Amino acid sequence: MPYAHITGWGMAVPEKVLTNDDLSRMIDTNDEWIRDHTGIRERHVACENEFPSTLAVAAAVKALQVANLKPTDIDLIICSTSSPEHIFPATACLIQDQLGASRAGAFDLSAACTGFIFAMNMAAQSIRSGSIKNALVIGAETLTRFVDWNDRNTCILFGDGAGAFVLQASDQPGGVLSAVMHSDGSGGDSLSLPAGGSRLPANEATVHEGKHYIHMDGRAVFRFATRVMGHAAKEALELAGLTTDDVQWIIPHQANYRIIETAAKYLKLPLDRFVINVDRYGNTSTASIPIATVEAIEKGLIKNGDKIVFVGFGAGLTWGALAADWTGPLPTERRVHPESYRTWARVRSWLRRLARLIEGLIWGRES
Ligand code: ACO
Repeated sequence: MPYAHITGWGMAVPEKVLTNDDLSRMIDTNDEWIRDHTGIRERHVACENEFPSTLAVAAAVKALQVANLKPTDIDLIICSTSSPEHIFPATACLIQDQLGASRAGAFDLSAACTGFIFAMNMAAQSIRSGSIKNALVIGAETLTRFVDWNDRNTCILFGDGAGAFVLQASDQPGGVLSAVMHSDGSGGDSLSLPAGGSRLPANEATVHEGKHYIHMDGRAVFRFATRVMGHAAKEALELAGLTTDDVQWIIPHQANYRIIETAAKYLKLPLDRFVINVDRYGNTSTASIPIATVEAIEKGLIKNGDKIVFVGFGAGLTWGALAADWTGPLPTERRVHPESYRTWARVRSWLRRLARLIEGLIWGRES
């Protein structure tokens, strides 16, 4: 049975940075409160022309470069997102087109901030079963488009960004070792975006009542997160036959510094074994785990052979953890340059659009 290795990684965030002081000029809050209660100092916010797919493609190209793969080598793209560009088509399909990953099946996965863990597990299981060889797993969000900038309980928390991993099949042991996935729909109301779906489609009243914004019972989510984070990490470790002594890094969902502190206490681990960057990005939801991972790699913290546990929680409610043996890119004989393929991908995409247009004209004339 092949192993599923994490062989490529990349991240992208919008250029625009919003600091706590910027926020204190917009609403009744201040830097000290936000830092004390969340650990956040600043966050990146998407501009008008930045979307989950554009951030995702920038992250994915970097991940493909590290893995030394062409977009056409990819069999599967899973985009985990809670801020998809449309209800349909899936954001993963937009990414597939922009990347030129013409052989890949692509779909979105919705499990809020836990989504990246669920998506990695789905991709790893597809590789382990032998049904695919190369997968691109992406977490991409522009959740700031759904925050009410007058609601100080929520607007201080979120930031935008994307992170991508390449997962590849290999006969060498390593890669994804275990995963646990949990959900409890009875807690769904504590963190939701009530309108805009088929239950409450957009109309004047829903917009007037602010139902297209994120609604959150912060204290309830806090209690839930502190209850499940450490426990899920422990479950994934036990499933992999490991203990906390075997692990070099815990990479948690970056929602709140205090939640991470509680998980560290539960696991009886010092905080310096946790990768933490919530101070500079805020809560980028499903993108937070890959963004934290890429930063840790770039700082030289993560080394081949390290055992890592990724752990997250989020709306749904959902939570989960995944243990991995970090092995880095697979050995390769020939370098490829994924970026150069994108020009051809764009040309091919426009040619396909043109062909559909001509086909429509011909059918129209015949009928
Ligand atoms: N600035 C100043 N004061 C504020 C602010 C603010 N931004 N926000 C709230 N306050 C006030 C409140 O009004 C309250 O005042 P009161 O006592 O006079 O009523 C006081 O501060 C305390 O408010 P709490 O809500 O009790 O503050 P708490 O310490 O719980 O922190 C927070 C709130 C940061 C939201 C915390 O509960 C939290 O992090 N919860 C988890 C949220 C989370 O992680 N959500 C994302 C989940 S992942 C996903 O799926 C997207």
